[in-house]
Amino acid sequence: MTLAELKAEALECQACPLSKLGRRQVVFGVGSEKADLMFVGEAPGYWEDVQGEPFVGPAGKLLTKMINSIGLDRSDVYITNVVKCRPPENRDPEPEEVSICVPRYLNKQIEIIKPRVIVALGNHATKALLGKSTGITLLRGKKFHASNYYIFPTYHPAAILRNANLLSVFAEDFQTLKEILKEEPPKEPAQLSLF
Ligand code: URA
Ligand code: SF4
Repeated sequence: MTLAELKAEALECQACPLSKLGRRQVVFGVGSEKADLMFVGEAPGYWEDVQGEPFVGPAGKLLTKMINSIGLDRSDVYITNVVKCRPPENRDPEPEEVSICVPRYLNKQIEIIKPRVIVALGNHATKALLGKSTGITLLRGKKFHASNYYIFPTYHPAAILRNANLLSVFAEDFQTLKEILKEEPPKEPAQLSLF
């Protein structure tokens, strides 16, 4: 299956309750199909739901700046979310919604794109990708070996907008990320399936 075919399927998706809770459109993902680096957020917010693209609101602008700070553009990486539809009032995605959406779309996006490093932005992405509920403060800035890629948790950019004290650590994590991208990717065949 190609990424375009998966996207076409997603745009019509009615598989979980978020399809009926006021989403304007499905926000599938954006960027390079051949990206070495992938970013996974939580769920589309207001601006993402309006524009159909992940991370285009205030948190997205900060994420874009950080991507630029390591010498990359949005078009060099792939950006998506754990769930592809906006939860009402930006509530957290429910476990049921995550467990329906992730195997249908996120896991397949990872299989098709084959990134070397997946950055999990915040607690929701970290839990979905690593299967750990350990808080982001303990997991951030470390790389976790998952099948043939690394998972690298860091703060969600929205958390930085709420607490500017976290900015220096967030910036440090991006410098660590830049170093990880220079390393050889892990070799084992893909077999990570959490759901
Ligand atoms: N927050 C997210 O988790 N994802 C987006 O796409 C935008 C804001
Ligand atoms: Fe489908 Fe995912 Fe949207 Fe639910 S959140 S309707 S599973 S695309």
